[in-house]
Amino acid sequence: MTFKSLPKVELHLHLEGAAPPSFIRGLASEKGIDLSGIFKEDGSYAYRDFDHFLQVYEAACTVLTGPEEFRRLTLAVLEESAAHGVVYSETFLSPDFCGGGDVAAWREYLAAMEEAAAEAERTHGITLKGIVTCIRHNGPEQAKSAARCAVETQGDFLTGFGMAGAELMGRPGDFSYSFDMAREAGLHLTCHAGEWGDARMVADTIRDLRPARIGHGINAIQDPALVEKIAEDGIVLEVCPGSNVFLGAAKSWKDHPIRRLRDAGVKVTVSTDDPPFFGTTMTAEFEGLHRAFGWDEADFAELNKTALDAAFTDADTKARIAKLLEPAP
Ligand code: ADE
Ligand code: ZN
Repeated sequence: MTFKSLPKVELHLHLEGAAPPSFIRGLASEKGIDLSGIFKEDGSYAYRDFDHFLQVYEAACTVLTGPEEFRRLTLAVLEESAAHGVVYSETFLSPDFCGGGDVAAWREYLAAMEEAAAEAERTHGITLKGIVTCIRHNGPEQAKSAARCAVETQGDFLTGFGMAGAELMGRPGDFSYSFDMAREAGLHLTCHAGEWGDARMVADTIRDLRPARIGHGINAIQDPALVEKIAEDGIVLEVCPGSNVFLGAAKSWKDHPIRRLRDAGVKVTVSTDDPPFFGTTMTAEFEGLHRAFGWDEADFAELNKTALDAAFTDADTKARIAKLLEPAP
């Protein structure tokens, strides 16, 4: 069974983490940078565990030296997403990798990515929106710079603010200033939590940062009262099952909490996170859910609808994308 041609909505994709290894290798050789240590013999990314994954990720980013590299990266990523039926995507963009948090530099990177998004929309019919993410292990001060970049450049393309990185560093409240700044400016909020942190980390994230969506959130399953609250409050989980199984945040597809969360009334969506790092695609995510739980086209239509409702974009864009999700007559 392949679900490749089904239309899909994806909410949780790290732009740099979606870089095809061949793209990064190509840039490295253009620039004479030796990155051989981060690749396996078969050409895929090589790393041992989550912390090492973050190091390899950052090493790959060293070849992304300016706006032009990010323009090309955005095109390469969107071409791949569109090939798997993705019609609407939201991607995490980090000023930390794009000018180090300087607003003027960030504007140039963002313009290049927005230009690539417009080109991909013309050629592949995929719509992209951007979410600025601060990187938790770079600390609260750097996060403020990222939030300032987001606030200064928000608009039709840049619609959200969030946080990724090493979840077990610091507490959510350390980042309140940045999230408050982003919220007051009208940005939509999401935050990684409950991938490595426990249910309390998810609860503290909700209390202190008040995001509409949580990246992963799967460890909320440890606390039934929290699951009930997430369901009642309509907080949406950006679940990435393939990533969780690959990195060991979940034991297996069959044990993955997404089914129990969905059965408990939580709004769940499905995304790839960093697809080439985890050997996944949106097609593979749907196939994995089909094999593990028997989910089928009707289930995927519901996941898409939940994702589109929770998308960080305007009503006109949602209405346009909704038409693309309708089954062919
Ligand atoms: N950055 C890229 N992928 C990530 C993940 N799965 N968790 C946290 N930070 C990330
Ligand atoms: Zn992520």
